[in-house]
Amino acid sequence: MKRRDFVKLSVLVSTWVFTGCFMSNRDDGYEGGNSSPIDNALPIPSLLQPTVKDGVNNYELIIKESKHSFFDNIQTNTYAVNGTYLGPTIKVTNEDEVSLNFTNTLKESTTMHGHGMHLPANMDGTPHQVIAPNQTWSARYKVKQKACTNWYHPHFMGKTAEHVYKGLAGFIIIEDDESKALDLPNRYGIDDIVLALQDRKFANNQINYNPSRMEIMRGYIGDTFITNGAIEPIFEAEAKEIRFRILNGSNSTVYNLGFSDNRSFYQIATDNSLLVAPVSLNKLTLSPGERAEIVVDLSSDLGSKIELREYKYGKTFLNIDINKKATSISTLPLSLASLDNLNPNDAVKTRKFVLGGGMMNDFTINGKSMNINRIDEIVPLGDIEIWEVINSMNIDHNFHIHATHFMIIERNGSSTSVLENEKGYKDTVYLRGGESVKFVVQMSDYTDANIPYMYHCHFLEHEDAGMMGQFTVV
Ligand code: C2O
Ligand code: CU
Ligand code: CU
Repeated sequence: MKRRDFVKLSVLVSTWVFTGCFMSNRDDGYEGGNSSPIDNALPIPSLLQPTVKDGVNNYELIIKESKHSFFDNIQTNTYAVNGTYLGPTIKVTNEDEVSLNFTNTLKESTTMHGHGMHLPANMDGTPHQVIAPNQTWSARYKVKQKACTNWYHPHFMGKTAEHVYKGLAGFIIIEDDESKALDLPNRYGIDDIVLALQDRKFANNQINYNPSRMEIMRGYIGDTFITNGAIEPIFEAEAKEIRFRILNGSNSTVYNLGFSDNRSFYQIATDNSLLVAPVSLNKLTLSPGERAEIVVDLSSDLGSKIELREYKYGKTFLNIDINKKATSISTLPLSLASLDNLNPNDAVKTRKFVLGGGMMNDFTINGKSMNINRIDEIVPLGDIEIWEVINSMNIDHNFHIHATHFMIIERNGSSTSVLENEKGYKDTVYLRGGESVKFVVQMSDYTDANIPYMYHCHFLEHEDAGMMGQFTVV
């Protein structure tokens, strides 16, 4: 139903139906979490409903050109999935059989990668699984991992940065028995809120992706900060605990996040799992591709307003207007998840990855720029390994691996320097200039001698400029 039809119809039907229609029938890919939509309300990506065929949940995702209003009365050209900017949220439960069917209606090829998903290499959506124009490609697999917040985004050779910048990305939420049994806010769009944080440059109100050499090196930092595709939107919150699933969906901007009154909040999850216990913070650093789930207690804030701010660049991501009475109560549990700690003493091998380059914009890992025809590492299934990542440059990087998660055991040569809020399962780790990190990792499923997974810097300009390598699991 088109929105204008629904406005006509709403005259005839009850308020209850009015609200119900609004939640499910907007055609722009977003649904309002609010029964009385306000100007500049935080857009909540719609939850995509699957069609079940032979026990498989099928999700239909159309990659397309679109137009989106970042600015009042102005249409900006975008790329999007189903809607007008970004894409719908896919919410699954561990052990679900899923098929994410991506149809590319763009005029150019792309791919769609499940960042953080444990899946077979041929379902990973890397540069090896190109979706040509007018083709459909399906990522079909059984969900096999702990509850967490993942995301999907393009991974096309040399074009990842541009495709993400134009608007291609969406959330994948995984739940499991453990997470469902916890007293955590879990009403999607009400007290369980996804936040895709990005920054953009615009020229004549159009998205402007045109990094200079210096910006490829130092980061393509936008002057407009956006949250779920909106500039400083307003979230009307219930006065209760609110869970934010935060994604740094930027190309190359590291965010230092906090609330305007400097209140503390709890981080409850890292990239790939809940933490063992909540970690109290009042600032959260998140590098590109990383996710953090936080819970902030707004139960005594009815009638007040706070902001979620970015403190490195001095921007507001989200206005939070606490103007609704709580319609349910949750109490943050003291313990969250049990994690499998791989024992570093069981490691049979240490691999070293030196992030370097930078001359003439060649970015390298171990002195090599990405070559899609070269396998850089072969990892035996089931082996416990230590990977040591060294940032040999004086600029920021991070390091992301596909296929599985890891646990950080050392920062800069010391186990006590590992931060409390990075002690959950991770798939992306931030390294400031000159830093090093050691993590323990195990490829526990899926072998394929021919099709590799990727590891790379998730600063997308660096990735596209070659700071990426490939590994197979055998
Ligand atoms: Cu989020 Cu290889 O990517
Ligand atoms: Cu990934
Ligand atoms: Cu980098």
